[in-house]
Amino acid sequence: MRVDVLLGEAPVAPADVADRVVVVIDVLRAATTVATALASGARAVIPFETIEETIMRGKAYARGEVLLAGERRMVRPEGFDLGNSPLDYTQEAVAGRTILYSTTNGTAALTATHGARSCFFAAFVNATATVNAVRDALAEGGDLTVICSGHEKHLALEDVVCAGRLVRGICDGRDDVIRGDGARVAESVERPFMGGVVSVAYDAAHARSLTAAGFADDVHACLTLDRFDVAVRYADRQLQLAGVAIAR
Ligand code: MLT
Repeated sequence: MRVDVLLGEAPVAPADVADRVVVVIDVLRAATTVATALASGARAVIPFETIEETIMRGKAYARGEVLLAGERRMVRPEGFDLGNSPLDYTQEAVAGRTILYSTTNGTAALTATHGARSCFFAAFVNATATVNAVRDALAEGGDLTVICSGHEKHLALEDVVCAGRLVRGICDGRDDVIRGDGARVAESVERPFMGGVVSVAYDAAHARSLTAAGFADDVHACLTLDRFDVAVRYADRQLQLAGVAIAR
């Protein structure tokens, strides 16, 4: 099995994902928010690259059936129902609703996974569940690509640490792994955080920006390991809890 990690500095090419099992990581905050929304009973989350597409698609639904959600420059876009704070995605707010969702980095990274054999969206909050789901997906063979969404087209430490943690878990006990340089970098970067990831809040630039903007509680929520025991799958352009049938 070949394992590649794209660290978030370069655009994803079709050949990076073609016919592979793919994991997209966006710890702060999109993948954490999506896991929280689905665990709170949202029907599905549908990602869009732009605010305009999100608003346009919203017009096709009855008001009350969908929520428009996401962020630009960390805050809720005008006219949207929810921003990108995972803490806002409570059962009361999202249960039974389809969420049309657009963020700066995370949803754009997802749209680059077309052609993957299967795709997961992961963060620390569902790291172990993602490791297990990916190991299952690779049981019959195949290669793995982990995509760090990054922040504003640059590497984000929290995503690389999460990638290292996932690669370590997915490769554990396998003697057939060929690691690309990105995978080796991610595993090395993760090593000091093996015992816990809370200190990423002080080390990572995006965590510091969110904290300065008043989102310290979000950072704390995003740096909680294994809050949810389910992986999030991206298939048919929808994000769903793995194992749940795609909503039509
Ligand atoms: C993103 O996808 O760009 C992030 O989730 C940004 C954020 O912190 O809200």
